[in-house]
Amino acid sequence: MAGKKAWGGRFSVDTHKNVESFTASIDFDKRLAPYDIMGSIAHARMLGKCGIVTKAEADKIVGGLEEIREEIARGEFRFDPALEDIHMHVEHRLTDKIGEVGGKLHTARSRNDQVALDLRLYLREAIGGIREGIRHLQRVFSSKAEVHLNTVMPGYTHMQRAQPILLAHHLLAYFEMFQRDRDRFAACLTRVNVLPLGAGALAGTTLPIDQAYVAKLLDFPAVAANSEDAVSDRDFAVEFLACCAILAMHISRLAEELVLWASAEFGFIELPDAFATGSSIMPQKKNPDVAELSRGKTGRVYGDLVSLLTILKGLPLSYNRDLQEDKEPVFDAADTVRHMLDVLPPMLLAIKYRVERMRAAAAEGFLNATDVADYLVTKGIPFREAHEIVGRIVRHCLETGERLETLSLTRLREFCPAFKPDVAKYISLEACVERRLSTGGTSSRRVAEAVQQAKRTLQRP
Ligand code: ARG
Repeated sequence: MAGKKAWGGRFSVDTHKNVESFTASIDFDKRLAPYDIMGSIAHARMLGKCGIVTKAEADKIVGGLEEIREEIARGEFRFDPALEDIHMHVEHRLTDKIGEVGGKLHTARSRNDQVALDLRLYLREAIGGIREGIRHLQRVFSSKAEVHLNTVMPGYTHMQRAQPILLAHHLLAYFEMFQRDRDRFAACLTRVNVLPLGAGALAGTTLPIDQAYVAKLLDFPAVAANSEDAVSDRDFAVEFLACCAILAMHISRLAEELVLWASAEFGFIELPDAFATGSSIMPQKKNPDVAELSRGKTGRVYGDLVSLLTILKGLPLSYNRDLQEDKEPVFDAADTVRHMLDVLPPMLLAIKYRVERMRAAAAEGFLNATDVADYLVTKGIPFREAHEIVGRIVRHCLETGERLETLSLTRLREFCPAFKPDVAKYISLEACVERRLSTGGTSSRRVAEAVQQAKRTLQRP
């Protein structure tokens, strides 16, 4: 038998050392250890229950696995690249500890179904953590919205000032985006929560196993319906990465606004000192690095998604060693979004909104032009004509330096006789906001309702 390989029986010479390091995954799959052991404990209990090993043997195996879990948690476990991956490490150590009976653990199991199980167990936990992180972020948006129900700011289209909105409305737009993320991860979880164990290498097993029992022990609502699919499917991981990519994309949009808003040109926010950095050369600088890095890290999360999609592209059934490459992108994306979700909420909570600057920006630039046109519509003018009339008024104001709301009624009537004294109460900044009562609109009435709805949404699991 060549070396200490579990599969050494068929081989007459040792593996080349470059092959050993090339094929080893222990450097990164060691973090699957807790899930590997959890899965093995359930498997061993099932073997005992089905009489494939004796009860005493199952107990001995479980006891050994529990000790190994402790050794790893205490950092006392020795990792060795010759043992390839985490599955080999745990099994090798088990035999070290409890002797030959350790060799019975792998009965009716292959590393192919084992690794699929480990990844699913890992992702289940990762998704739980990410969904909590998103909720935490959403909580910041809903609480900030509640205190800015009267803060008027310019809303933008084409990055041009368009119509006045409430800051609360803007913040709740992010709340909605992140709610979709939370829902998307929950939907992904239903695909993660399928038990692949029992598929063996690819075709199932001849031994009388009880997959439903393992599923119950590990809290999986379903068992994989096809053993070949069970060992080769990584759709759930692709979906997870797609969820991460969309979440990161949302974060990058937020980050971009923070960068812009913190600039002297906008001046809409003041970044808290604890969340900004200085320049090594320019003493006056206060940089929005957290936002910039959030924007930048989105690129690597996209890379992780494309990486796994490319690994799977054209891969024939069933298990292929290529699949070992699934782990690093999954871990990287999970870690990256977790980092973002850890750093953003306290920063967003500490950001100071410069409400006077926002209001001043909303008051300039004819943001009430649509409202003047809507007013003429209420007087029976077709919208297209009203649009044309208000366009001419805006051009006039641009030449004279006036604002729509400061023009006298006489002046307005020169452009269109349909203007009446009541026009004043249609075109103030407040009116422009408050009259937008449509579902999902920016009036404080709708936004206050939206804050209440957000609070209820936050209670949902
Ligand atoms: N380390 C492998 C992986 O991550 C485990 C499965 C290996 N199976 C095999 N037959 N070589 O995919």
